[in-house]
Amino acid sequence: MTNTNANKPDVAAFFDKDSNTFSYVVKDPASSSCAIVDSVLDFDYASGGTSHQGADEIIAYVTAHKLTVEWLIETHVHADHLSAAPYIQNKVGGKIGIGEHITTVQETFAKVFNEGADFLHDGTQFDYLFKDGEQFKIGQMQCTALHTPGHTPACFTHVLGDAVFVGDTLFMPDAGTARADFPGGDAGILFDSVQRILALPEDNRIFMCHDYCPNGRELEYETTVKAQRELNIHVKQGMSKDTFVALRETRDKTLAMPRLILPSLQINMRAGHMPEPEDNGLSYLKIPLNAFK
Ligand SMILES: [Fe+2]
Repeated sequence: MTNTNANKPDVAAFFDKDSNTFSYVVKDPASSSCAIVDSVLDFDYASGGTSHQGADEIIAYVTAHKLTVEWLIETHVHADHLSAAPYIQNKVGGKIGIGEHITTVQETFAKVFNEGADFLHDGTQFDYLFKDGEQFKIGQMQCTALHTPGHTPACFTHVLGDAVFVGDTLFMPDAGTARADFPGGDAGILFDSVQRILALPEDNRIFMCHDYCPNGRELEYETTVKAQRELNIHVKQGMSKDTFVALRETRDKTLAMPRLILPSLQINMRAGHMPEPEDNGLSYLKIPLNAFK
């Protein structure tokens, strides 16, 4: 059946088992235009090998449905998977966009990884930097970009029609929120950002970037603003900022670093591109020793 609600995109979800990440193809109901949100590049840490099974599934979907890719949106610089945005762009086009505060993240991690002068901190590795509150379109569909820092300083939430892509700002109601202890993260700021999302219309759909199936339940990736307001174990109505911050900071102290954080940051702060190859033609990633305490 044709979707006739101009504000209600068709959302196709793709799940990467290795990193528990959801990627999405979000299609304007009035045209063939779409955006791809948070794609994943397969990475085998032991061998340093990258592959494209997940990205190829998305490309096959886009091709089969004859979609025009306008945007490749990154909600933030992910620390748990590598972005496949450049690979997908190379096959089907689209502009790679991230929030303008990527420059802060680049500055922070350029120091950690001791990047040389050829690594620019100005976000120019991306095709587009979204500003807070900026309106944009996918085909005919109205979209808004919201700066929602806290998990990282550059996190954005994208409101694409009635579908809200929150990155790691929120998890499913029974899982709460993501950690706020990465460099530049802040639990109090995360709480404030979540309030902006909860202020959206209550029937807006919210799509997760991750789900870890708490208490052994089935995998889930979609909820609503209303459900988050009423049920989210960290931020439901009545939860004070102080209580949230104490809870978040206590929990974050118990969390180990994500398995792929070091490769992910180095690739994703380059918009998914690999570092410049060395004179033997290979690209290398660094492992800084004892940089995260
Ligand atoms: Fe994240």
